[in-house]
Amino acid sequence: MEYQNILFEMKDKIALVTINRPDKLNALNNKTLAELKDCFSALRNKDDADAVIVTGAGEKAFVAGADISELNKLSAVEGKIFSERGQEVFNLIEKLGKPVIAAVNGFALGGGCELALACHIRIASEKAKFGQPEVNLGIIPGYGGTQRLTRLINSGRAAELILTGDLIDAREALRIGLVNKVYSGEELLSKSYELAEKISSKGRIAVQMALRSIVSCDDITDIEGQNLESSLFALCCGTEDFKEGTSAFLEKRKPLFKNS
Ligand code: COA
Repeated sequence: MEYQNILFEMKDKIALVTINRPDKLNALNNKTLAELKDCFSALRNKDDADAVIVTGAGEKAFVAGADISELNKLSAVEGKIFSERGQEVFNLIEKLGKPVIAAVNGFALGGGCELALACHIRIASEKAKFGQPEVNLGIIPGYGGTQRLTRLINSGRAAELILTGDLIDAREALRIGLVNKVYSGEELLSKSYELAEKISSKGRIAVQMALRSIVSCDDITDIEGQNLESSLFALCCGTEDFKEGTSAFLEKRKPLFKNS
């Protein structure tokens, strides 16, 4: 897949999506957002991609937010459309149906923090900085941040970040559960691949069903979620991978999943 503002690369079964506007700290302008939408729509149906890693180009930023030069011109009506367009792309990422790992290599601010939040797992380099500085611009997070951040790190912490616009470093992000792991900048991508490859080595159907159940958690009640879980569990029981996984355990050997 060829784009102007993002790079796409496949390595074995892992896709790497790099936001590539380093001179603007990878800020998400309309074109980049449209390219992300196109790329993730294609990834949804790309059977040879088991997992996706998202990162930012250059030394400084994952994504430093929505492009403020485009924001600056919005009317109220355009603002609504602008926000919904971003939400749609980030919902697509969250509901991709395969795991997406954010490898946060630098500034993850505003829409950048929200992009990381739409991913299923976040790991960060020691240089990463997170924040929702929209209040400094007279606006609020518009790409799902008020919802996802609040659910992930609790309402008190989310309120502090969103209402002050303060930035936090990777260690603090780890402490409050915003990221799962922190590595050196040099290790970040190799550790991201390690994680993606580990997931890819499991039965693909089981991984996808588990992810579907996890992601649904935000949209439905606990009882509905447990119903969904038992239905997806039952679907897994009908797969070849289930027979292989359980037989391999009983025969004391490694499973050979066929993803069927
Ligand atoms: N939108 C558009 N351009 C952006 C941007 C954004 N969100 N963030 C950074 N840039 C651009 C800068 O305008 C600058 O462009 P220029 O070289 O043409 O002047 C370039 O990226 C480098 O940024 P700069 O501010 O010079 O880097 P810095 O190291 O001094 O500061 C930040 C880094 C991240 C602290 C600072 O760029 C910043 O505060 N960015 C905005 C963050 C934000 O508010 N995001 C939420 C948007 S809703």
